[in-house]
Amino acid sequence: MLYLNAAGLSPFHPDVQQTIADTLESFSHVLYSETGIDRYRSILQRSRETLANWLELDTADRLAFVPNTTTACRLTLSRITWKPGDTLLTTTHENSTILQELQTLKNYGAHVVSLDPDSSAGLLSAFEHALHQHSVRAIVVSHVSHLDGRIFPVEAIQQLAEAHHSLLFVDGAQATGHIPLSFRHFHPHAYFFPGHKWCSGPMGTGALILHQDGENLLTGSTLTKNHNASLPPDGRHCELGTQNVGLIAGLAKACSLKRQDGLRCQALKEIRDTWQSSIRKNARLRTIDTEEAQAPGILAFVCGDDPTAAAIRATGSAHSLAWKTFTHPSFPTCLSVRLSWNPYSSLSDLQTALSLFDTSLNT
Ligand SMILES: Cc1ncc(COP(=O)(O)O)c(C=O)c1O
Repeated sequence: MLYLNAAGLSPFHPDVQQTIADTLESFSHVLYSETGIDRYRSILQRSRETLANWLELDTADRLAFVPNTTTACRLTLSRITWKPGDTLLTTTHENSTILQELQTLKNYGAHVVSLDPDSSAGLLSAFEHALHQHSVRAIVVSHVSHLDGRIFPVEAIQQLAEAHHSLLFVDGAQATGHIPLSFRHFHPHAYFFPGHKWCSGPMGTGALILHQDGENLLTGSTLTKNHNASLPPDGRHCELGTQNVGLIAGLAKACSLKRQDGLRCQALKEIRDTWQSSIRKNARLRTIDTEEAQAPGILAFVCGDDPTAAAIRATGSAHSLAWKTFTHPSFPTCLSVRLSWNPYSSLSDLQTALSLFDTSLNT
């Protein structure tokens, strides 16, 4: 297999695997003894602090571990009491599991409006217009599009959300560990991401970061704060039941490696540039380029006609190219392909894939 789907699932990192195994092995000797319970709590807290420091959060208490992005999304959205006429704004670029969550909100009275980032007005103007037109309770938007890697202007969207008193939830699945991210001046009500994509952590991990108001929304901590000062008013309330400390320690290890090694955006961009120029040589293929900034580890292209789509599919299966095929909302009748790589992708696999691609499609 030649792997070009790091945006779906990162290649595993041996140090992360080792941390998971070591943590569980050592925990197996103490289990839920008093020592074990102390150790369980301290692994969670240390891991929380590792992620919080990496992401420049003011306090680790606003970060909750979750099993994946979709669960975090459901958890946050399910705490909202929707009133008739409340609108939820989103985009046509959200992941299918998130869209499914949003669609279920219709059953609770929410009116869901999806904006097309490629609309002639542009995404921000479309948001502005929709915020004026509807009573927008919440906005759910990706930080980086999983379809074509464009970076959405989430800080500007935050300003619009604030001006219209709307909640802002950001899906960071394709952003965290991929592009620079800091919560020093960025404070959406909720931001969620998985461990297993760009953080290169284990499957079954992720995090939910809550703004102070998001915290109130989710935990009912207005009640907590006023009536029971002994309960900590923090995001840990979102961690439901027993956590897998092995996996969480693995996620923390992955994030500390990211912090130590950096995101290597320039190296990722060079790979992108090489693929982009190869694809552009073929008149029947078109790279999906956007006005917005692009994340460096993702490149999408669209096939101009059915025979080209068939050639792409044949090339993919003949050479076991693991890439993602999909339908891009701006090219609804064509096959599109998303290529993605991260710093742990095999460079020799990427080169082999590129030369096979060149030979099959550009000769
Ligand atoms: C942008 C985005 N959001 C959410 C998801 C779903 O993630 P998870 O499996 O962590 O729930 C994906 C998966 O590819 C994604 O790309």
